[in-house]
Amino acid sequence: MAKIFQIGAAGGIGRRLSEMLVRSGARVTGMHRRAEQAAVIEGTGAAAVGGDLIEDSVQRLAELIAGHDVVVFSAGAHGTGVEQTNLIDGKGLEKAVDAALRAGVRRFILVSVFMDAHRGSQSTDGFENYIRVKREADVYLAATDLEWVIVRPGRLTDGEGSGLVAAGPALQYGTVSRDNVAEFIHEAIYTPSLRRRVIELVDGDKPVSAAMRELIETF
Ligand SMILES: NC(=O)c1ccc[n+]([C@@H]2O[C@H](COP(=O)([O-])OP(=O)(O)OC[C@H]3O[C@@H](n4cnc5c(N)ncnc54)[C@H](OP(=O)(O)O)[C@@H]3O)[C@@H](O)[C@H]2O)c1
Repeated sequence: MAKIFQIGAAGGIGRRLSEMLVRSGARVTGMHRRAEQAAVIEGTGAAAVGGDLIEDSVQRLAELIAGHDVVVFSAGAHGTGVEQTNLIDGKGLEKAVDAALRAGVRRFILVSVFMDAHRGSQSTDGFENYIRVKREADVYLAATDLEWVIVRPGRLTDGEGSGLVAAGPALQYGTVSRDNVAEFIHEAIYTPSLRRRVIELVDGDKPVSAAMRELIETF
């Protein structure tokens, strides 16, 4: 049985993914930083564990992660400012990566962002900082010898997932439902030959499993 450790498990992508994983028979541990999020995580069928990317040390995070097969990182500061973005999406990701290395957990899946987000529209200093921090986080993870996968979704939507995506190294910018992102990560977890790849992801016209097969066959 696959043992998955989710950071950001109570969030929009996290709880969708957790539900899918539990349904397919995985054992999921979901990390949360606020007490009330435990119920959200347990509602998906996962085990909830308290942990904070800002407050906790690498050693503490490593102790939580130890014994799992895969770490999925979908945490984020969700527009709460430059300082929080730097601490969560930036430094927090680095701590989680260091913790996975220390715990000996080799597979690490990161939800990043489509680097073209917001191009052509008016941006803000905060958003530019967010994109910069996300890229630096990708660089940090990609420089390790972990079996990492970096998923860069387009703009996230909450509508019901179509199950149809476009996934590849370079795509036109677009939207993608959180359902579809969760389904893609679920498929990636069970496709170990997908590793050390940066993948852009938007809603498209291929079933997730077919899109994954193509990624593997064309590499
Ligand atoms: N919005 C978009 O259009 C878009 C597009 C592309 C990529 N993304 C990326 O997608 C990812 C997740 O999206 P989402 O919709 O699932 O976001 P979300 O609903 O905001 O979920 C993020 C989760 O991370 C948790 N978190 C934040 N700081 C934490 C900390 N210090 N320690 C532990 N957990 C912490 C949050 O908890 P709290 O509620 O306590 O903060 C929340 O449960 C983010 O990395 C984001 O950058 C977003």
